[in-house]
Amino acid sequence: MNYTPAPRDPRAPPVRINLLSDTQTRPTPGMREAIARAEVGDEQIGDDPTVNELCERVADLLGKQAAVFMPSGTMCNVAATLVHCRPGDEILAHETAHIIAREGGAHAALGGFQITPLPGPDGQFSAETFRRALHPRNRYQPPQTTVSVEQTANIGGGTIWKKAALAEIAEIAKARGLATHMDGARLLNACVATGISAADMAAGWDSAWIDFSKGLGAPVGAVIAGSHEFIDEVWRWKQRLGGSMRQAGVCAGACVYALDHHVDRLADDHANARALARGLAQINGMEVQQPETNLVFFKPDKAGVPGEKMVEQLRHRGVVLAMMDGRIRACTHLDVTAAMIEETIELVREIARGA
Ligand SMILES: Cc1ncc(COP(=O)(O)O)c(C=O)c1O
Repeated sequence: MNYTPAPRDPRAPPVRINLLSDTQTRPTPGMREAIARAEVGDEQIGDDPTVNELCERVADLLGKQAAVFMPSGTMCNVAATLVHCRPGDEILAHETAHIIAREGGAHAALGGFQITPLPGPDGQFSAETFRRALHPRNRYQPPQTTVSVEQTANIGGGTIWKKAALAEIAEIAKARGLATHMDGARLLNACVATGISAADMAAGWDSAWIDFSKGLGAPVGAVIAGSHEFIDEVWRWKQRLGGSMRQAGVCAGACVYALDHHVDRLADDHANARALARGLAQINGMEVQQPETNLVFFKPDKAGVPGEKMVEQLRHRGVVLAMMDGRIRACTHLDVTAAMIEETIELVREIARGA
């Protein structure tokens, strides 16, 4: 998979419209106040009241026994596979999964695990594909110990796994003794878009996490949840990896604020994504994947401009977005308004016309 971060061009004008990622949000004034007000303690010894409150709330939200605050979503994925697997084990995941392409090979480097990439449209594999990839335990093949899904599927277009598909895959995995892991970097986007609770989405999944530094708008942090035993082991890895913190309540305060103020509004991001896709689709030759959540993937090549050139030209007009896997990804979030979407559509139209 090809991932090209936006070039840092010192001659480019300041960014006015940032569609690069939902990680680009800045804390709102209300969130900054919550950060300033947060009660703090020593997180590493379990003494930070704001972190503890956050973990209890996320465990509840995800329908799990316990949770732990982590510096990042990547560390949630890494700690989870380190708990679920042993060196030489096999993890099954979609071929576009973040754990395969974007975590610096952490699962191989730190755990000695191999990840089998499963095919399927829109970042998702079917229960049948999963079933066919499973083999009986034998001396020759790696033990298959974990299946991982992304809700939503990022490179698949921010698509939402159906609850029934998740339940079927979890059931097959359980029958074969595999652990189930859900990368929920954008799980709450899926929940807001469908009206299905996070606990229902994560039912049958041994570990699940949500990211606060994406659509929820916090500067840092993710929370992973699971059984008491699983979370005890995650704590050990968090300590080993240097992820244990001290007065982390200043970060957790932003996350608690986000749970209270930034979940329902994800619907606005989805509406902006739909408006963007609608406008782009009206440009002759533009190939646009209809968004289900806050990610819009499009390809302008048949509209007369190669993707890289479109990204570069937009950057020179103050709009930043990313090339991913041969397509352009635009991501809507807290700091993107409906007016910015309209302006982006006009700029893309202008560039496609060769203006
Ligand atoms: C699907 C998915 N999983 C995991 C991550 C990693 O999250 P973080 O940036 O918090 O490490 C991302 C980040 O973009 C992601 O999109």
